[in-house]
Amino acid sequence: MSIWETICDPFEKSDSVQHDQVWYNGIVNETMVKGIFISFEGLDGSGKSTQISRVRSFLESCGRRVVMVREPGGTVISEKIREIILDVGNRGMAPAAEALLYAASRAQLTAEVIRPSLDAGMDVVCDRYVDSSLAYQGWGRQLGFEQVLEINRLSVNGTFPDITFLLDIPPEEAMRRTSGKGRADRIEEEAPEFHRRVYEGFNRLAALYAGRYRVIDGTGLPGEVSRQIQQILKKELIKRRGGV
Ligand code: TYD
Repeated sequence: MSIWETICDPFEKSDSVQHDQVWYNGIVNETMVKGIFISFEGLDGSGKSTQISRVRSFLESCGRRVVMVREPGGTVISEKIREIILDVGNRGMAPAAEALLYAASRAQLTAEVIRPSLDAGMDVVCDRYVDSSLAYQGWGRQLGFEQVLEINRLSVNGTFPDITFLLDIPPEEAMRRTSGKGRADRIEEEAPEFHRRVYEGFNRLAALYAGRYRVIDGTGLPGEVSRQIQQILKKELIKRRGGV
């Protein structure tokens, strides 16, 4: 069995409703439905922020409790790590150090916010998660998917998204959209070639993890993009019998 097969398994979840079963003396005593973990991925400028806030409104209109987080960041400790990562003064940062810092920020966010929220039945909508590390550090920085996933196994501790929306826009369009946005951070200011590799990385991940990835054409009008996302989420809610 290749390392891929052994480390990819946790990503591919079954279609069944997830339950946390609490056992007392060998008898299932209590069953609690977990929240849905949704992540958004894509290049800078792919329109994630707009879509994420629409998803929140949609889920809340379905009577669900929603927690929104972003990576890197989302906790006091993770935001401090974010400052180090994105600081343009840290141009000399080694790719491995970068990957480990993203993983450290993620470890804190997962332990402090994501895992407890899901366990309490809340949905979590995350602006980037482990796939960003695979695409940016694994493919963009050329550390390799396997190595970056290995680092992140400790950070996520078995917590993987149920659904990952990849907002697909060509790298040239992404760079055009971000160029007028003001000061670029350390990752944004990378050469076009880097962003093209990241794009390729996301496409490969979408093929590898086809079970959880939903690739959406991000070049469409925001209303059309959110209509597609909501349709997918409606199906997911019905499947989970939470209902809409
Ligand atoms: P941010 O301003 O949050 O970008 P965006 O709003 O587009 O998500 O900056 C995060 C940057 O860090 C972004 O360029 C993507 C990059 N990144 C990685 O390289 N690896 C990671 O694991 C994550 C989470 C983000």
